[in-house]
Amino acid sequence: MTFEEAVAAIAQATTFGELVGGDRAATYRRLLKLVHPDVAPTGRGAAATEATARLSALFDREETLTTPRGTYRLGGLIARGDLADLIALDDDKLLKLPRRPADNDLVRAEVAALTALHREGDPRLRAYAPVLVEAFAQEDDSGVRREAVVLERLTGFVPLTGMRRRLDPRDAAWIWRRLLTGLGWAHRAGVVHGAVLPEHVLIHPERHGVVLVDWCYSVAPGRAVPAIVSRHRAAYPPEVRAKRPATAATDIHMATGLVLGLIADPPAAVGRFAAGCRFDAPRMRPQDAWQLLAELDELLEKLYGPRRFRPFTVPAA
Ligand SMILES: Nc1ncnc2c1ncn2[C@@H]1O[C@H](COP(=O)(O)OP(=O)(O)OP(=O)(O)O)[C@@H](O)[C@H]1O
Ligand SMILES: [Mg+2]
Repeated sequence: MTFEEAVAAIAQATTFGELVGGDRAATYRRLLKLVHPDVAPTGRGAAATEATARLSALFDREETLTTPRGTYRLGGLIARGDLADLIALDDDKLLKLPRRPADNDLVRAEVAALTALHREGDPRLRAYAPVLVEAFAQEDDSGVRREAVVLERLTGFVPLTGMRRRLDPRDAAWIWRRLLTGLGWAHRAGVVHGAVLPEHVLIHPERHGVVLVDWCYSVAPGRAVPAIVSRHRAAYPPEVRAKRPATAATDIHMATGLVLGLIADPPAAVGRFAAGCRFDAPRMRPQDAWQLLAELDELLEKLYGPRRFRPFTVPAA
């Protein structure tokens, strides 16, 4: 790109996005170098000054988000969830914004859950849910109000999507153990997750970390889960589909189905153990994730001997 081309592009752009060809900050630096007054051809100093000012104004206008708590640098779209867009903020946070204001209730449920987990949950297990930075209502130009949340962004984590029937049972074991640990922690804080699905369980392959995200569907035990992710309808236990009360046993059912589905060739004993967690009647299932974890450990020890760390890499698709 020449000086004149860059000046023309900047003059024509009404938003910074029209200039972007990749990373925003890199685009900004590249264009700034091209149109800076120090490098302007003879007689084009004024055009350079104008282009530089306009470039900075475009960049700043869209680049920040000011909320009741502060100003963040806006980055690109990280994920398009079922109901919300997740946009990078600064280097380590994200903005979760529902696409339809009709889903504001679900965002409020997520705020309530994360707040309860933070207040009531054992702080030593805090890392099993994302950290809520702030929640606020955003009003757009047409007066539409949306509930938004800012979360700490997890780096180095990947969702369990796309791992169906690919894992050795011993690799699924740490995911299963940690999932039960995280769920037991939430249940003791009075929160049922309500949507234990592959895209809501993020794992850190090297560190064997597990984080449960998307608490929008969560409820207090005894309340009905407010909505179903329809493409996963079959993964839900009957009480959710029937809008009957959800309990710890609801999450236990979903978590078991999720982990069992990851295992390439589950041993019969694992299949039997899982079946016992997935009865239709919630009362016939285990009711306590931590107690279930102890039983799982016994089973794993019987099958594979004493537990030891197995380096894990995500299997290629
Ligand atoms: N804190 C986070 N850090 C990094 N990635 C995240 C984080 N939270 C969510 N994600 C990623 O973004 C995806 C979508 O997030 P989430 O499920 O919360 O949005 P959503 O489905 O639109 O929410 P909802 O349907 O409840 O409104 C997740 O599957 C996950 O991969
Ligand atoms: Mg989701």
